[in-house]
Amino acid sequence: MKPVKVGICGLGTVGGGTFNVLTRNAQDIARRAGRDIIIAQVATRHPNPAVDTGNVAVTTDVNDVINNPDIDIVVELIGGYTIAKDVVLGAIANGKHVVTANKALIAVHGKEIFAAAEAKGVSVMYEAAVAGGIPIIKAIREGLAANRINWLAGIINGTGNFILTEMRDKGRDFADVLAEAQALGYAEADPTFDVEGIDAAHKLTILSSIAYGIPLQFERCYTEGISRITPEDVEFATELGYRIKHLGVSRRTDKGIDLRVHPTMIPVARPIATVDGVLNAVMVNGDAVGNTLYVGAGAGAGPTASAVVADIIDLARLIDAPAQASVNHLAFNDIQDEQVLP
Ligand code: HSE
Repeated sequence: MKPVKVGICGLGTVGGGTFNVLTRNAQDIARRAGRDIIIAQVATRHPNPAVDTGNVAVTTDVNDVINNPDIDIVVELIGGYTIAKDVVLGAIANGKHVVTANKALIAVHGKEIFAAAEAKGVSVMYEAAVAGGIPIIKAIREGLAANRINWLAGIINGTGNFILTEMRDKGRDFADVLAEAQALGYAEADPTFDVEGIDAAHKLTILSSIAYGIPLQFERCYTEGISRITPEDVEFATELGYRIKHLGVSRRTDKGIDLRVHPTMIPVARPIATVDGVLNAVMVNGDAVGNTLYVGAGAGAGPTASAVVADIIDLARLIDAPAQASVNHLAFNDIQDEQVLP
């Protein structure tokens, strides 16, 4: 089969990680995809010292990538709502498949994006948008497809979990740990999204849409972050035998689906209480399977790239199989419009 050509927009933490994983593991990836996957072009305004782009064409203009007739898959790793949205919609309009890690974009503009993709018969994939390296979207959509999902709950912001863990274990200052999370590439460009729960609410919105077949309704998610947690709160929780964890929780109620993101006291004996540092964990309860638990790194170059590249490989398998090519946004097109609580 002919190679699949990829254009990467954004060469920051995740873009750089994606470039490096695709390059480093090219042979294994080709074997699993059934064809070579070639990086045809990269768009970035700033070189990434962790990446040797070698012979790959580099441009500063994202339009060069989305208008490049050789490119089959555009990988949007810019983040934010503005340029990223133009890249995604522009790529779709040009008949290209899209892979993105952009939870804000999917949670807020997903409906428009999936409708555009459906009209063009292309796929938009976003495994990396939720819980970094944990393949939680695939787990819910594919592995648990037989189930009626009753509830899901998890630590879905790595930066917040890292801050709470360092405050507890080392008595470190909130702002100091946040600065380290930024330096490590865990935090959002605007770290308010991490510490005020907005990033977790984006992710919970996406997971819940897939789990319950509901529309993406980010604005209906109750959102509270960790910015008001004090060292004393952390210490008292420890003394009482609890951990403070920032959770995203959604569940079926008699009146509809309830979505909430907030700090929670969890007894230390619970498995999720031991999930520390940048790790994320998601528990999903289905009527057939019961409880399931998924744990892994929730942020950072390698873990997020792992999810991005998995989506690229899935697409490489589906390209030239048009009947299946749009499988990844069916969850949103097939919504039952179940009530989401205000
Ligand atoms: N800022 C996010 C986090 C990145 O810390 O979880 C991964 O989505």
